[in-house]
Amino acid sequence: MQLVFLGAPGAGKGTQARWLSKEKGIPHIATGDLLRSAVQKKTGPGLAAAQYMNAGTLVPDSITLDVLKERFAEQDTEKGYVLDGFPRNVTQAEALASMLQISGWTLTRVIYFSLDEETLVKRISGRRICPQCQAVYHLSERPPRQEGRCDCGTLLIQREDDTSETARVRFQVYQQETVPLVQYYTERHLLSAVNASAGVEEVMRQVKQAVGC
Ligand code: AP5
Repeated sequence: MQLVFLGAPGAGKGTQARWLSKEKGIPHIATGDLLRSAVQKKTGPGLAAAQYMNAGTLVPDSITLDVLKERFAEQDTEKGYVLDGFPRNVTQAEALASMLQISGWTLTRVIYFSLDEETLVKRISGRRICPQCQAVYHLSERPPRQEGRCDCGTLLIQREDDTSETARVRFQVYQQETVPLVQYYTERHLLSAVNASAGVEEVMRQVKQAVGC
């Protein structure tokens, strides 16, 4: 099963992808996570990607594709994956189609998370993450048991690009670069839309229905 989760920043793709990945026993591959890990390790691609990520713009396709191809080469992708945050433009969608063709696979489904700008800015600016176990919280929607601390005990942090200003830049970039993929995948009869403004459990129900599980 090869799934793509498509949608605006903060729409809840990661939250749903982590859940579905456990449910289906397939890896959750998020290009944002792969790039953040490269930045943290100060690898060549990471050093090149950091300035784009902090500004809220897209990392050049060549860097993103290199990082993704490396991840695809790992053995756990043999049963499929949930791809989160990739593709983000038509060039990346074409690159994914070529990679799938070479492996003899086809895309199972593209789940499109639709959400308005004001809601996503609130979600992004209220998001806190655990640097230890990678759990994701929201100050008001999904608070941890103890304020400021992950349920695993680690101090929570805010992503550098999670300010409301950068969230608005990311939304503009999304509209210009990524929204054309809605038509791209609709024309290929692969797109299922979910209403991402609903609560987590309701979105989960819609994702289940779209994926057929
Ligand atoms: P990336 O890490 O992919 O960020 P994003 O797409 O902007 O998505 P987010 O991680 O912000 O949001 P999400 O949809 O996963 O929401 P979440 O579930 O966390 O990309 C970061 C940067 O990396 C990019 O700007 C770019 O520079 C670069 N990059 C990455 N991929 C690239 C690519 N392919 N090409 C080029 N550059 C690339 O939820 C958000 C918050 O809301 C959380 O606090 C959560 O608890 C809460 N929440 C979730 N669901 C709900 C709900 N239903 N109700 C209420 N609250 C909810």
